Amino acid sequence: MTAPFTELTPAQAQVVGALREEVQTRFRHESTGHDWWHIERVYRTALEIARQEKADLYIVSLAALLHDIADHKFHDGDEQIGPATAAALLRQQEVDEQTIAAVTAIIREVSYKGAGVPTPASSIEGQAVQDADRLDAIGAIGIARAFAYGGSKQRALHDPSSAPQLHSSFEAYKTSQGSTLNHFYEKLLLLKDRMHTESGKRMAAERHAFMVQFVERFLKEWEGK
Ligand code: ADP
Ligand code: NI
Repeated sequence: MTAPFTELTPAQAQVVGALREEVQTRFRHESTGHDWWHIERVYRTALEIARQEKADLYIVSLAALLHDIADHKFHDGDEQIGPATAAALLRQQEVDEQTIAAVTAIIREVSYKGAGVPTPASSIEGQAVQDADRLDAIGAIGIARAFAYGGSKQRALHDPSSAPQLHSSFEAYKTSQGSTLNHFYEKLLLLKDRMHTESGKRMAAERHAFMVQFVERFLKEWEGK
């Protein structure tokens, strides 16, 4: 599926097209689960949700394309760098300040911050982007991304001696060093209940069920069964 350019004004479509190129170039060599294809899937899913929820497609397009533009995880925990980089790219495209404010607010809110930390999305556009981003963290693709990320950080697949932790602060979540299997209990299996939109909830149910099966089987095989 391609961008719904026909639903944007020609000027908006031009900005979205230019940003797609810019983001694609920047993410070409990324291999920790935040590659261009993650952005593309989130963009597509966010637009699908946005249509169903009647959200603003221009804001959703820009926020989806820019949501991971500079992730705190790869910038010493700096949470301001994402919104700041996005704003600079949007200014280069002469996007109006009101739109920039809406997009950067979404980017600020998008990240998962720990099992015990609420992550409200203050606009319907933000809900669409946050749901789409989280849908890409669960199901078959979510499983693949988790182990790719874990590998990039030298994390164990599984460590039966360390229990999962339900982090109650972003700081604790950000600095945790647990196994990738623990990440399922600390984040991935919790996401279905944190979806905002009805369409997001529907899509999450099937992906969640698949992940539950995967974890069950993983633990069985770990025991040699
Ligand atoms: P999102 O794009 O959903 O905000 P993140 O940026 O937190 O996700 O992480 C990118 C990908 O890496 C996601 O699929 C996520 O589940 C995975 N990931 C993040 N932290 C860990 C971790 N500690 N162990 C394994 N996978 C992780
Ligand atoms: Ni993302």
